[in-house]
Amino acid sequence: MKIGIASDHGGFELKEYIKEYLEKEAIEYIDYGTNSLDSVDYPDYGLKLSKGVIEGEVDRGIAICGTGIGISISCNKVKGIRCALCSDTYSARMSIEHNNANIIALGGRVIGRDLAIEIISTWLKAEFEGGRHKRRIDKITNIEG
Ligand code: RB5
Repeated sequence: MKIGIASDHGGFELKEYIKEYLEKEAIEYIDYGTNSLDSVDYPDYGLKLSKGVIEGEVDRGIAICGTGIGISISCNKVKGIRCALCSDTYSARMSIEHNNANIIALGGRVIGRDLAIEIISTWLKAEFEGGRHKRRIDKITNIEG
């Protein structure tokens, strides 16, 4: 599985930490920026990552800003994106098993590094259950028009 990862300045340090984890686990990734702590606008990075997911350049995405809120809202504006803001491992697992979310959002100023790695490790192992959940996701897609 190939992962896309993106953040604004508020999520930059956590992004770099998660990249180290992905490298250690030999998980391929594309970094869509940002590349420093300089102030940037999270919608720009949410959009870059979302395009990567929609165009199939990556299979799933990790989006990070200070709270995870702004970048998750931005990603969810892109047709076909289901972005789940998660601060715990249970939600991260469910975001795949039930919601087949294609992006997970994290708050770099909300959760600690170790928790973030547990969340990502759980999320990477999770698989979509399909069945009744597929019907519900189809209904979300219909809302998009
Ligand atoms: C940037 O200061 C901050 O507003 C941003 O990272 C994020 O938390 C917005 O939702």
